[in-house]
Amino acid sequence: MKVLIVGATGRVAGYVIRNLTDAGHFVYAAARKPDSFQIDRSSVEVVPFDLHWSKARMMETVKRADAVYFLAGSRGKDLLQTDAFGAVQLMQAAEEAGVKRFIILSSIFAMEPDKWSQEESLKNITNYNIAKFFADEWLVHNTDLDYTIIQPSVLKETEGTGRIEINPEHDGSNPIPDVARVLSDVLEMKNTYKKVIKMRTGDTEIASALKAV
Ligand SMILES: NC(=O)c1ccc[n+]([C@@H]2O[C@H](COP(=O)([O-])OP(=O)(O)OC[C@H]3O[C@@H](n4cnc5c(N)ncnc54)[C@H](OP(=O)(O)O)[C@@H]3O)[C@@H](O)[C@H]2O)c1
Repeated sequence: MKVLIVGATGRVAGYVIRNLTDAGHFVYAAARKPDSFQIDRSSVEVVPFDLHWSKARMMETVKRADAVYFLAGSRGKDLLQTDAFGAVQLMQAAEEAGVKRFIILSSIFAMEPDKWSQEESLKNITNYNIAKFFADEWLVHNTDLDYTIIQPSVLKETEGTGRIEINPEHDGSNPIPDVARVLSDVLEMKNTYKKVIKMRTGDTEIASALKAV
């Protein structure tokens, strides 16, 4: 498949790009500053892209792909325009371009506001969760895309365990390589279409956990 990755310079995206190209896919790595982003892979084309762009401008790039990943985020600095509305406009661009497969990296319990004051790791990031809430809700209720929403726990820069727990009761953490593995593997798994997948590190091998979704 030809896959567009928005947020290609990010920590998670780096692993996802490697996984997807290893699996034989071609990646359009979308970056705000394409000239300063280099990746040592032949099946990757770095393309300019900004989530502040209009939907029409986004579509010019989106229409080249068979699937779209939203792996971007503003680290709390631009929640409305990047994490919320940027995501929504990307969904709309995909839909209008006829690109049905859409995978978004969200955050655990983003669609469950009651949890935001209960889970220790979520207590100080309410504005972030609100932005993700609107993006995720939009995707589920206002599009006809074949979406998968991946909602990991706290991201850790540690080696992957290869094992997860899906839809846990409480927050936890996830090594970034494990989150990237899940994001990459769901691409062609039809049983993950129209699903919201909450996750933290657990005991089940990623492949088995995803098959059971
Ligand atoms: N941190 C956690 O514990 C945690 C937990 C659960 C979920 N998440 C989610 O996971 C996401 C990815 O994490 P990460 O660590 O890989 O993020 P990251 O390293 O901060 O990468 C964010 C990416 O978003 C891009 N970006 C920012 N604003 C943009 C815009 N206006 N247009 C286009 N691209 C833009 C950045 O591009 P530039 O290089 O141009 O800045 C960068 O590529 C986070 O954003 C968050 O939503 C995080």
